[in-house]
Amino acid sequence: MKPMDPEFAMRVVRWQRSHGRNHLPWQGTQDPYAVWLSEIMLQQTQVGAVREYFARFMQRFPDVGALAQAPLDEVLGLWSGLGYYSRARNLHRCAREIMDQHGGQFPRSAELLQTLPGIGRSTAGAIAAFCFGERVAILDGNVRRVLARSLAFDADLSKSANERTLWDLATGLLPRSALRTSMPAYTQGMMDLGATVCVARNPQCLVCPVADTCGARREGAPEKYPVKTRKLKRSAQSLWLLHLHTADGAVWLQRRPVPGVWAGLYCLPLFDSFEALQAAVPLRHRTRLQDAPAFVHVLTHKDLHLHPVSARVPAGTPLCAQALPAPAQGKGEADIEHRGEWIAPEQWPQLGLPAPIRRLLQTAVRHSA
Ligand code: ADE
Repeated sequence: MKPMDPEFAMRVVRWQRSHGRNHLPWQGTQDPYAVWLSEIMLQQTQVGAVREYFARFMQRFPDVGALAQAPLDEVLGLWSGLGYYSRARNLHRCAREIMDQHGGQFPRSAELLQTLPGIGRSTAGAIAAFCFGERVAILDGNVRRVLARSLAFDADLSKSANERTLWDLATGLLPRSALRTSMPAYTQGMMDLGATVCVARNPQCLVCPVADTCGARREGAPEKYPVKTRKLKRSAQSLWLLHLHTADGAVWLQRRPVPGVWAGLYCLPLFDSFEALQAAVPLRHRTRLQDAPAFVHVLTHKDLHLHPVSARVPAGTPLCAQALPAPAQGKGEADIEHRGEWIAPEQWPQLGLPAPIRRLLQTAVRHSA
């Protein structure tokens, strides 16, 4: 591994100010609420997708009190399409905890921020560095790559002891002076380097401000880093979606149980086979069932092969409840209706729906218009 470059931090800071991203909607503020909201949205999600959601959330919930007061369903509805819905649930829980236990103020240190729901070490570091100039490291996927390459850090990062070592090295490299201004620029600079220059494939070493001290570049193989041996185990699952709709545009939707796929969101009833789906439809309506082309929806750990089956039925048609998937057990979920209900055409677009289900319903509306 390469020894540390004493100039590393200031090179990153200078580069960020002249070549980094300086006009993102969540920059130019030190309001921890806005920074926290953006950082949660940016976990596993690209800047381009977050922009609109961030603007909508800030408009509807301008501060942590407004977010805490909103019903969870409204938050999930506004989050709909961003994916990883546990982030939205933790966001809401976190807002309530800040109101109930912190007098409506965000804690001002990374150490305390980390005690809140949904805020891990790196997100806590980002909020504390951006808003309070705390000398604290971040280590998201992009920054991990920049550091592992710069330092030619060849230990396996799927082992937590090695990950801890990289955290310590990251801390050692942080700026040491003018923290109030250098820490935000450095933190953003490391994110920007990872997102725009030190990218996973074909890194742009010619324009990198730390290229001449980069260990991976010296070895001529930047893409070898970071080293991570444990591969994510992926699986596949086939699901049949029952899309029952009425002439006036109502749709039958169920709340998904927690935990599980699309936990807590509204969804078409899901079945493991066509036969199971058919059994939930009253006998006299089964001939109306129509297959639509199957499609694949990719989740973090699995590929879902989704088979939509739709039927127009008379308003108020009940489903065969005993054939529907079992409702969730316990966990304070007793108040949630998992069997499902008819939802009016002006209501369902406001609900928290998984992105592929929303698209499917929107396409069906366009085709019936
Ligand atoms: N990814 C995570 N945090 C970010 C930020 N503040 N700006 C751009 N991309 C990010």
